[in-house]
Amino acid sequence: MIQRENGAISCHFQSEQGREVVKSWQPLELTGREDSHPVFEDATLREIYEQPSVIRRMMEAFRGREFEPILEAISQAQMLGLIGCGSSFYASLIGKYLFEIWGRVSAQAEVASEFRYRAPVLNEHSFYLFLSQSGETLDTLQAMEMVRAQKISTGAVTNVAHSSMAKRADAVIPLRAGPEVSVVSTKAFTAQLAALVGILLRVAKQRQSKDVLARLQKDAKKIPELLEEILRIRDDAWKPLVQQLLQASVILFLGRGVLYPVALEGALKLKETSYLHAEGYPAGELKHGPIALVDVHTVSVFLAPWDELFPKVLSNAQETLARGGTAIFLTDAIGQREIEKSDLPQGKVVTLVAPETGEISKSFVYSVLCQMLAYKVAKFRGCNVDRPRNLAKAVTVE
Ligand code: M6R
Repeated sequence: MIQRENGAISCHFQSEQGREVVKSWQPLELTGREDSHPVFEDATLREIYEQPSVIRRMMEAFRGREFEPILEAISQAQMLGLIGCGSSFYASLIGKYLFEIWGRVSAQAEVASEFRYRAPVLNEHSFYLFLSQSGETLDTLQAMEMVRAQKISTGAVTNVAHSSMAKRADAVIPLRAGPEVSVVSTKAFTAQLAALVGILLRVAKQRQSKDVLARLQKDAKKIPELLEEILRIRDDAWKPLVQQLLQASVILFLGRGVLYPVALEGALKLKETSYLHAEGYPAGELKHGPIALVDVHTVSVFLAPWDELFPKVLSNAQETLARGGTAIFLTDAIGQREIEKSDLPQGKVVTLVAPETGEISKSFVYSVLCQMLAYKVAKFRGCNVDRPRNLAKAVTVE
């Protein structure tokens, strides 16, 4: 029975045991939808284009005092645990890299479905963050219960403020991405990264020099503009990459450092949207197995901005090209010049030039490049990008 009283709505019904259950009606805040955008072909593309505004909103939220208690608790922790599934796990892994390198804090990223079935030894002085777009993923919820049972502090980083995860955690960082309609996560993923960066900058304040902190803050501030630049890349620039991937029988996404988890996310996006089989690997692992796959039908996508690891990535590309494979480089202007100067067989190399990035911004920029690439391949194959087969938006079962 539905009851209306003084503007409040509640629903009364009976449980299986005959108990009366009352649930009150809660209006949902549906902010974040960018209606001012031009009409997009589908929700996935619209959500990809919403990312610069989402990141701006997240940064704005971190400028206030709203998250101070959770930020303080995380800053005091001896170890930061980051737990999620699918893309939320890859965001956690990116977080691990960023927290260890720039926050100088011990961090562990865990797949929730594994964490809950092993017997993790937990440190009572740690803090666990649970990342989930939906806030309803069963494995992640169960992992959270395990941590809570040991009286260890928990936080939910979720896009659904009234979700089970948000209700059960000690503290919540809402993602403010607006409703993500596409089954394929894009803007909620980069919003998770933005939340992690917001936390990182607070941790780095205590553990890094002023100069390093200022450099990180400056780089983070540029992210929305860098993403806007990517979203302006013309279709002609993407075409050669798409054509290569359409012909490939083996597709590898390869990156080093923080771009290794981005490579995992890139491969997942391609699988989900276009049903092409792709694998993500740390580029340094190529010689430990996957190189056996490489032949003329293999296309390797290298996430290769000009940085201290670029020469290593270039040499990994050489290994694939020497075996007849094709290399796609997602890089920047300096990287492109270095590739052209190198002795790589240029006929087997395809390059897409992105803006120059810094230590924080590169994971955002290369994630969005991978999203765009996957989207374009999927559209070419006529796939339903918003509703890929066999997938659900919230995985509430095992
Ligand atoms: O709602 P969650 O973030 O907990 O969902 C976790 C995964 O199921 C989700 O990220 C999945 O991998 C997406 N389809 C990625 O696009």
